[in-house]
Amino acid sequence: MKVIVGTQEEVVAQASQRYVNLLAAKPDAVLGLATGSTPLSLYAELARLCAAGELSFAECSTFNLDEYIGLDGTNEQSYRYFMDHNLFSKVDIKMERTHVPSGFVKDDAEAAQYDALIDEAGGIDLQLLGIGNNGHIGFNEPLTPFTSVTHIVKLTDSTREANKRFFSSLDEVPTHAVTMGIHTVMKARSINLLAFGEAKAEIIKKTVEGRPDIAVPASLLQLHEDVTLYLDRAAAAKLS
Ligand code: F6R
Repeated sequence: MKVIVGTQEEVVAQASQRYVNLLAAKPDAVLGLATGSTPLSLYAELARLCAAGELSFAECSTFNLDEYIGLDGTNEQSYRYFMDHNLFSKVDIKMERTHVPSGFVKDDAEAAQYDALIDEAGGIDLQLLGIGNNGHIGFNEPLTPFTSVTHIVKLTDSTREANKRFFSSLDEVPTHAVTMGIHTVMKARSINLLAFGEAKAEIIKKTVEGRPDIAVPASLLQLHEDVTLYLDRAAAAKLS
């Protein structure tokens, strides 16, 4: 794993450059995207660079990691709404090339069709990840099998608790989500993981310095050959 540490502004500038370089070399690249608080500063920077004419999303396609079960894109808490609002509406991407898993899949077989869609698009060139306090990536909670493809998950109490800040009460946080699996993520040719703030320091230490273990899903990224972690100093504080 390559680890880059700096201020949030510095590491976001470096991560953004990966998109500038990739889209210049391969305008029809396939991007894997994430939601949550962490990617917001990156998305703002990508929108700024696009407005400045330094990169274009016009030919690329995107696949988001996950979506809440039962929420459609008109729901402000849905990840489709998040993406439209924080990135897609601010760049020159073609909406029909943006993909977010459907929150209305009825079973795992239907959910797994998302992997087939990714494969048909040529596979993900660069997957963006945040990290949960328990090491989840996407909504792959601890003990998710290494071989998992896109599937429906029951969210843990800790993840629902962490995400309730976006809802008016805990009761409104959906109990289930659909997420790319660990295998889906590991198939990406390159992976960027962003983490900011001291709340992520402990899990970043386990991710980078612990033994790869499905108990800490992000630690499995050690087994991928091209992973870069972009950390602010607080998130990197416990690394030895
Ligand atoms: C979001 C996602 C999650 C988040 C993680 C961190 O699409 O897949 O794994 O990346 O929960 O969330 P934040 O960034 O809000 O701390």
